[in-house]
Amino acid sequence: MSQDNEKRIAAESAASMVHDGMIVGLGTGSTAEFAIARLGEKVRGGLRIKGVPTSERTANRARNERIPLLDFSQVTRLDMALDGADEFDPALNLIKGGGGALFREKIVAAAADKLVIFADSSKQVEKLGRFPLPVEVNPFGWQVTLEKIKALCPEVTLRGGSDKPFVTDNHGYIIDCGFGQIDDPAELERQLKSIVGVVETGLFVGMAQFVCLGRGDKVEVLKPRA
Ligand code: 5RP
Repeated sequence: MSQDNEKRIAAESAASMVHDGMIVGLGTGSTAEFAIARLGEKVRGGLRIKGVPTSERTANRARNERIPLLDFSQVTRLDMALDGADEFDPALNLIKGGGGALFREKIVAAAADKLVIFADSSKQVEKLGRFPLPVEVNPFGWQVTLEKIKALCPEVTLRGGSDKPFVTDNHGYIIDCGFGQIDDPAELERQLKSIVGVVETGLFVGMAQFVCLGRGDKVEVLKPRA
């Protein structure tokens, strides 16, 4: 079964957890687009939900699907956030931000009663860190912030390069950090967040309640393991 098919069945399984009346965070990425397409079908079939997009890209997709959207300034809590991930471990700690939307994804997830992740089987790891950890920084003085991050992680890259840095919807830059195996995600998150200039990290520690994992032609619904 192809990776795309695993993404699709995982996303559709997560979309089936969405019920009438819910306010739903809509994640970003290729897997999230399968979920948005399924939710769009359901909305056109009568499901009444409101979506809170985590990126401009997702907002455009959702509008095309005719999913009614709320601006994040209009809500203080969501019933559920649906999103993809770049990696997840057995405790369902995540690395996110491969698509550069980590700040909005995290703020939306933090406001949701439940965070449901969908992923293909390549995203499952015993320890996080094979995927370079995206860290969003403020562009002002990014070089200083990068040097401070370097003290924790020698392998750092400004996404897009210094001539034409990738700019997030949130007007930030992304520094991709090749930590290798991350033994203590919560401690690393604490250390990174203590650096002035760091806006947010792609570590989502203890936030996800479920991962809908597409493996072959089946979906496993995983809960956090200690
Ligand atoms: C975007 C993300 C995505 O959820 C993550 O990169 C996974 O993307 P995809 O579903 O395309 O594999 O965190 O910021």
